[in-house]
Amino acid sequence: MTTFTATALAHPNIAFIKYWGNRDDNLRLPQNGSVSMNLAGLHTHTRVSFDPAFTSDSFTLNHLVQTGASLARVSAFLNLVREKAAKPWYAQVESANNFPTGAGIASSAAAFAALALAASSALGLELSEAQLSALARKGSGSACRSIPSGYVEWLPGSSDEDSYAVTLAPPSHWDLVDCIAVMKDTHKVTGSSEGHQIANTSPLQAARVSGAPDRLQRCRQALLARDFDALAAVVELDSNLMHAVMMTSNPALFYWEPASVEIMKAVPGWRREGLAACYTLDAGPNVHVLCAVTDAPMVKSRLEQIPSVIQVLTATAGGGAHLTFED
Ligand code: DP6
Repeated sequence: MTTFTATALAHPNIAFIKYWGNRDDNLRLPQNGSVSMNLAGLHTHTRVSFDPAFTSDSFTLNHLVQTGASLARVSAFLNLVREKAAKPWYAQVESANNFPTGAGIASSAAAFAALALAASSALGLELSEAQLSALARKGSGSACRSIPSGYVEWLPGSSDEDSYAVTLAPPSHWDLVDCIAVMKDTHKVTGSSEGHQIANTSPLQAARVSGAPDRLQRCRQALLARDFDALAAVVELDSNLMHAVMMTSNPALFYWEPASVEIMKAVPGWRREGLAACYTLDAGPNVHVLCAVTDAPMVKSRLEQIPSVIQVLTATAGGGAHLTFED
């Protein structure tokens, strides 16, 4: 029997304007648009093989066999691809991240972007970038932003078909660097999917969402004009707003560690000293410090001096998801 195989690579992304809360949790239609940068150098590489002889799906991550919720999420996503292609076959999914596991780098964006591309290609679906992005979105919302290249905007849309991400500017547009301060291993935090579901329990979510179009416009303008100070102001505000919603949800979600706060308090001071640097945090304690390429060595060395920071990863703006042909 024939096996239908494809392999794909995708980068994680860091959001400048955040996605937090859905209008439809099942379809992952977000309450507001978001903007992000793909992270070059960090990636997930995924091989998918469909075979009519397989009797179930299997999934390995960094060579470890996955079961339970992790396998179920992959299988549910493969069902969408199988349905689109009208092919009922089970698949073997082998995935590997080149960034440290357990470092709290959001991996679901790169994971579902690579899986969407590999699985749809293996089954012979010829999807446009927008269709692929919309498909990846249903695996993990932020994954739709890892399909296009560079600096990306997720257009929230009004339906399954028109909620996808597009490139705002290619990676070469601006040589920003993301210095990721990885904190000492902390207890497992509430995942994003559960967080989205309780976003509306915060009395602050409606205000965050209603101000999003204005922040998106400020972010787009700052990006296109390469205006670092304008970008810094809106990126830090948007991160703080999302964390204010998280902290006032029911149950309350506190993602910060003491060192996260230490960095958030220090970075605006660094800016006043003349460094082009600003902070943003996702659903975890790690702090992403975006900076000008010329300031990256100084930012990295300052972050490394903070005792609870175990590692500082750096990434420039990366390309989109693509098929690969090596093993
Ligand atoms: C805080 O895309 O991880 O990183 O759709 O449930 O997989 P699911 O959620 P996910 O949410 C990302 C939340 C965030 C902000 C962002 O990346 O925009």
